[in-house]
Amino acid sequence: MRIGILTGGGDCPGLNAVIRAVVRTADRRYGSTVVGFRDGWRGLLEDSHTLLEANERIDRILTRGGTILGTARVNPSRLREGLPRIRQTLADNEIDALIPIGGEGTLTAAHWLSQSGVPVVGVPKTIDNDIAITDVTFGFDTAVSVATEAIDRLHTTAESHQRVMLVEVMGRHAGWIALHAGIAGGAHMTLVPEEPFDVDDVCALIEDRFARGDKHFICVVAEGAAPKPESMALREGGIDEFGHKIFTGVAQQLGDEIERRIGKEVRTTVLGYTQRGGTPTAYDRVLATRFGLHATDAVHRGDFGNMVSLRGTSIDLVPLADATRELKRVPLTRYAEASAMFG
Ligand code: F6P
Repeated sequence: MRIGILTGGGDCPGLNAVIRAVVRTADRRYGSTVVGFRDGWRGLLEDSHTLLEANERIDRILTRGGTILGTARVNPSRLREGLPRIRQTLADNEIDALIPIGGEGTLTAAHWLSQSGVPVVGVPKTIDNDIAITDVTFGFDTAVSVATEAIDRLHTTAESHQRVMLVEVMGRHAGWIALHAGIAGGAHMTLVPEEPFDVDDVCALIEDRFARGDKHFICVVAEGAAPKPESMALREGGIDEFGHKIFTGVAQQLGDEIERRIGKEVRTTVLGYTQRGGTPTAYDRVLATRFGLHATDAVHRGDFGNMVSLRGTSIDLVPLADATRELKRVPLTRYAEASAMFG
């Protein structure tokens, strides 16, 4: 068999571990060949590819962050218009099956292709952990580890200066990174997109803590967290060319508001892309390797139109049609668990 593979959307620690697992499994178990398309769907739109051989070089990418194939976001309408071109590239390169590795956008395009008869098995990825039909996505554990280490470091400097520290982490629609890093890092408050916050409540919690004699306060803020409309207005950022909301820095704006309302000294740290870069944790390497292995097995069994997914401790196949039907958001019961540790 000739298998095509691509990595689409934002990068994520563990992508290379999936690529390595696909190449090794295809070669060792089935004697198949893997063709890597460069820069996500762009590689198929422009026929830019490379042959991936099961050798020492591929082995060493297990620990490497990023993706050796490159990635790109492609505008969904450009992608839809490009589907005939993508099918042509697959035919020109005699590709028997495609393994796209990506988040919401990539899996949606994978589903379109599958509906038009292309043999596809998807692999979910996102540090945000917001894909509903898998328990966890690789990259999430690494992002939580990076954020937790940052929070650990911020505790000591915040304490020395008796400051309020706001730490902004990724999470556009779902606050999983904030929730987990907040618990693991012993944050005094965590704000997530699922639960609009009231600035008065944030200020009251800070004042209570300082009144008890504790002299620092750490609040983890997901980038998609938003105030209740009557509490504070955030600057509008509009929508980007991919249909994503442009964020305007909720933590910085909340910090300014806290200083104005209660006169505490506030500092803001935006972790941004540090959460996505660098080497994957052991957990993410294992999950990514298992996803790659099972996707390759599924391709050879002809189980197309599916996506690999972690269910408990097993890797299952679930229909691509269900992959992006809904986002996995933080349930309020989970947020209530975190908030039991606030203050
Ligand atoms: O992969 C998801 C994500 O990490 C979001 O949390 C973040 O807002 C977004 O990607 C940013 O991606 P980019 O700036 O690369 O488009």
